[in-house]
Amino acid sequence: MFYNARIKTMIILGIETSCDETSAALLKIERGKFEVLAHVVSSSVKLQAKYGGIVPEVAARKQLEYIIPVLSEALKTGNPKLKILNPKQIQKNKTQKSNLLEFRVSNLEFVTAIAVTAGPGLATSLQVGIDTAKTLAYAWQKPIIPTNHLEGHLLSPLLMKKESRNSKFKTLNKFKIQFPAIGLIVSGGHTELILIKDYLKYKPLGQTRDDAAGEAFDKVAKLLGLGYPGGPIISKLAKSGDAVKYDFPRGMISSGDYDFSFSGLKTAVLYKTRELGSKETKNQINNLCASFQQAAVDVLVAKTMKAVKEYKAKMLLVGGGVSANPLLRKELEKNCQLNSINLQLSPVKYTGDNAAMIALAGYFRYKAGDYIRSNTQTKAWQEIKVQPNLKLV
Ligand code: KG4
Ligand code: ZN
Repeated sequence: MFYNARIKTMIILGIETSCDETSAALLKIERGKFEVLAHVVSSSVKLQAKYGGIVPEVAARKQLEYIIPVLSEALKTGNPKLKILNPKQIQKNKTQKSNLLEFRVSNLEFVTAIAVTAGPGLATSLQVGIDTAKTLAYAWQKPIIPTNHLEGHLLSPLLMKKESRNSKFKTLNKFKIQFPAIGLIVSGGHTELILIKDYLKYKPLGQTRDDAAGEAFDKVAKLLGLGYPGGPIISKLAKSGDAVKYDFPRGMISSGDYDFSFSGLKTAVLYKTRELGSKETKNQINNLCASFQQAAVDVLVAKTMKAVKEYKAKMLLVGGGVSANPLLRKELEKNCQLNSINLQLSPVKYTGDNAAMIALAGYFRYKAGDYIRSNTQTKAWQEIKVQPNLKLV
């Protein structure tokens, strides 16, 4: 019922520019099965690192610079492998093909609709994606799907490749959620537990009351002088550290609800570093990373499994930048196995911000009729706006 058999093949162009990643992807869908045809990401994260965090003006300026080269690469290569464009390649692409409208119509005919992140995110970064999508939708006469970034992260685990026994769809993979399902979104800006009752039917269960999980990793890395973003470096150093060396607080672990709090944990790490003195040894830093990571993961896993049990979930979907964390993945795998829950972790390459997940969420919205035809609903189309504080529900 959900999949319209009349529409045989669809290709969604996804565009994501909500923060410091610029990404474009082509997602092909055939009878509810999918294939990522192109996936290109460029990031200004290294530039942001020298400021110790995201500077919105810098992020937006880089979005403007990267968007056309990234889009051209996705459209021209149609290469399923993730391509990361570095600043040098951006410059090369810019001089090679600066005008997307010059693309041959035959290359574009196959795009069914354009999904673009409308929010949540940085207003000025989002604006770049929205303006680009609107321009393309107008020029190519394609429908536009304003897409929720959080829904992208939530559904990104469905991009997991599975072996298909059906020879007809050898290269395609099937989307399938078993309901009820629980979704955990853990990113730099959000930590949310969601009950998924059906496709696109959500009930928020809880969220962070202060810092998001990724924000806690970033702030702890900053106070330890490890740079930005914090998650990857902390999880790397934690491998050589002792996770039980420091007993950091597991904020709200027994609060009885599904809310989170990570600011107390961050402060506890700060006090411990002060206590250790300004010259922590390498070993001490590794121990601080491991003990902090363990405390954060313990809370995430405990609350998630509590929700899974209470709502008798058949499936757990986990996405967002922090879901790349190896310890979190391992502990969730262990717990889900114990409780016979089908765990769907976002593939690591789709944990960070990317346009493949936007194309995917856009596809589900398109099927539900949640899109705007550029040519017939001109007024509605002109009103597509950035929504920096967009919620999932
Ligand atoms: O989803 P994302 O790319 O952007 C947002 O929508 O916020 O998430 C970025 C966050 C950053 O806070 C980063 O430190 C965190 O994800 N992150 C990690 C890891 N890799 C990235 N956190 C913990 N462990 C990791 N391995
Ligand atoms: Zn994100």
